[in-house]
Amino acid sequence: MDPSQPNAQQQLVDRFGRHVNYLRISVTDRCNFRCVYCMSEDMQFAPRSHILTLEEIVAIGRAFCSLGVTKIRITGGEPLVRHNVIWLFRQLGAIDTLTDLTLTTNGAMLARWAGDLKAAGVTRVNISLDSLHADRFRALTRTGDLATVLNGLDAAQAAGFRRIKLNSVLLKDRNHDEAADLVHFAMERGIDISFIEEMPLGVIDEHDRAAAHYSSDELHSDLTGQFELIPTTESTGGPSRYYRIPGSDTRVGFISPHSHNFCSTCNRVRLTAEGRLLLCLGQEHSVDLRALVRARPGDDAALREAIIASMDIKPKGHDFQLQGTPVVLRHMNVTGG
Ligand code: GTP
Ligand code: 5AD
Ligand code: SF4
Repeated sequence: MDPSQPNAQQQLVDRFGRHVNYLRISVTDRCNFRCVYCMSEDMQFAPRSHILTLEEIVAIGRAFCSLGVTKIRITGGEPLVRHNVIWLFRQLGAIDTLTDLTLTTNGAMLARWAGDLKAAGVTRVNISLDSLHADRFRALTRTGDLATVLNGLDAAQAAGFRRIKLNSVLLKDRNHDEAADLVHFAMERGIDISFIEEMPLGVIDEHDRAAAHYSSDELHSDLTGQFELIPTTESTGGPSRYYRIPGSDTRVGFISPHSHNFCSTCNRVRLTAEGRLLLCLGQEHSVDLRALVRARPGDDAALREAIIASMDIKPKGHDFQLQGTPVVLRHMNVTGG
């Protein structure tokens, strides 16, 4: 393979034969929420000079697409708090080999930006929503306002986004009893929903993660009392295992890093806002692409070479433990999930 020649047919393949065609880019570690499972209350954020410029992100995104990546998801922190982020969406949206340009957001700023995101070429949006009760929503996000997020969802639907997905992290005795209401809400809106097991990323002080664990299996059995869940083999290229409900277009997904490990089919890598290319969400193996793009600006061949070489250090999988100090000390806002 000659890395000096861009060729969208080239594949990124790791030591375990897994093909990487999906890049998740965190554009900021900052957020206007402080969700209790994601952050501690007093977070230190990266200084501005450490954060990749939007131009650097575009160069890295293009390099990945030239190597066969066809899906990019923009994450944070909260991506929409980054100044001028719409410009980035437009640049990425113009890459003709990219078939899926997606966004994971807390929804708080969607009412302002949904139309521009659609026009920029964003194909799908995932919105975090853990509760339909304003007081619980505030307690779980520490700063969030439910009505603002629901307005954001309205705006995304009005802008014409299809297959919007809600993400709900369920915590035992905090919001696990809301799962059926959240499914009904998704069905009324004609959108999808995924339930996520909390992952032990970074030290948090607000609750004990082991005590708050609510497994997808428990949840699945709760829901089968109220809904007929038909397993499907559908995938959006993510880790959700999807079920369909007869008579409804809504898919109900379960993201279960603890109870149903999905690492063997992993197709993704992540770029942090500071330019670290992380080869696994649950490990520290990484390559410093910021150092490279700053030492050799414009050298796309060197960038492609470093990305191809990184495949050799992609680990077999995560090793999450619910008890004790987390193995991975970075919080979820650094990688955007
Ligand atoms: P689609 O691409 O639409 O399927 O989205 P997704 O569900 O993969 O992405 P989203 O950003 O909505 O993330 C939902 C949850 O899935 C977050 O909690 C992520 O941390 C988690 N997730 C996504 N990819 C991985 C992964 O490779 N490993 C683990 N452990 N969790 C992941
Ligand atoms: N475990 C599981 N999911 C998390 N998210 C944030 N932190 C965690 C965690 N520790 C979720 C958010 C968002 C998605 C990107 O990741 O709720 O929906
Ligand atoms: Fe912000 Fe998302 Fe983390 Fe909540 S989970 S604090 S919305 S980055």
